[in-house]
Amino acid sequence: MKILISNDHNALELKKILTAHIEEKFSAEVTDIGSTGEKGTDYPEYAHAAAKKILAGEHDFAVLLCGTGAGMCIAANKIRGVRAVVCSEPYTARLSREHNDAQILCIGARVVGAELAKMIVDEFLQARFEGGRHQVRVDMLECN
Ligand code: RB5
Repeated sequence: MKILISNDHNALELKKILTAHIEEKFSAEVTDIGSTGEKGTDYPEYAHAAAKKILAGEHDFAVLLCGTGAGMCIAANKIRGVRAVVCSEPYTARLSREHNDAQILCIGARVVGAELAKMIVDEFLQARFEGGRHQVRVDMLECN
């Protein structure tokens, strides 16, 4: 499995923790294209870059981290074809894969602690899209 991870200045520590966790638990190849410094950075740039790589098929999924997860999620979803979700608990993370075929998981480093973030990532990466009636709805998502 190939995972893209990215972050703004608010999520440096959480990125390190989740990268190690994903590599170890899923034997995944994790590519980091996020901020490596603590100076103010602009989350839309990171989100757009990650979203384009996901659509290009370079990675299976992306994990995007900022203060709340909201900015990354909004920005990623501006790229047509992307389905990004912001999650603060594991149930939504699982259903976002099973029902919504989300390719991008966003988490807020100021909102979610590291252990809960690991559980959210685990549910997201372990779940499988169910297709069927959900595929019909996913196909309806793009509206312009
Ligand atoms: C940056 O201060 C903050 O706005 C960002 O990390 C994120 O929370 C945006 O949604």
